[in-house]
Amino acid sequence: MTLFPALSVSILDADLLSLKDSLSVLEKSRAVGSIHLDVMDGHFVPNLTLGPKVAKDLKAHTSLPIRAHLMVSNPDHLLEPFAQAGVSAISVHQEACPHLHRTLSAIHALGLKAGVALNPATPVCTLEEVLPIADFVLIMSVNPGFGGQGFIPEMLEKIQKLKSLLQGTPRPIRVAVDGGIKATNSADVLKAGADTLIVGSSLFAESLPLAGALETFEEVFHRIGNREP
Ligand code: DX5
Ligand code: ZN
Repeated sequence: MTLFPALSVSILDADLLSLKDSLSVLEKSRAVGSIHLDVMDGHFVPNLTLGPKVAKDLKAHTSLPIRAHLMVSNPDHLLEPFAQAGVSAISVHQEACPHLHRTLSAIHALGLKAGVALNPATPVCTLEEVLPIADFVLIMSVNPGFGGQGFIPEMLEKIQKLKSLLQGTPRPIRVAVDGGIKATNSADVLKAGADTLIVGSSLFAESLPLAGALETFEEVFHRIGNREP
């Protein structure tokens, strides 16, 4: 049973050629709830990464749910290919979707969970009208495009603002926080109101084997207490 809060592991900074070994380590950890796939088009963000084929191949090698984070300028045409590849959730950027309500509805129509991602400068109030159809909100705690960046501390207050906005919504909306999260700052992010921590480079840095890095997060989660969202 996965611990809540849970980790969604970003493979952006993982060694993709040894990913198969990493997947079996991730599956053994009670802290890991899913794989976070950062999709970048070199236009919405100044980096280029992977497409639906990688999601399909990952799906064939892990039982962990795969959640695509689309950092692309026009996500609508990628929804179906990622759904067919077997992802369980897609988050799109509020800043990239002039018809966000339609895009989230299209993700639901594909049978997937729909999330809205906000860049650090985008206020949470921009979500108000789509909260009824969002399953989760992804708060970027770095400026998107690269792993290994520093956590932007002002985002703690933004997470708290989002949590108060979510008070009283008729159904639970999960809060995921993405970027610059380490075992050392994860308790603060959880206390601010995050349910899911998206973590990349601090798991795949050379200094600690993956299993050991996961254990440091498991210890934090045990300390915070296993709470269902
Ligand atoms: C950044 C991505 C994040 C990033 C997280 O644009 O959306 O998911 O890979 O990696 P770390 O944990 O290294 O910040
Ligand atoms: Zn991401």
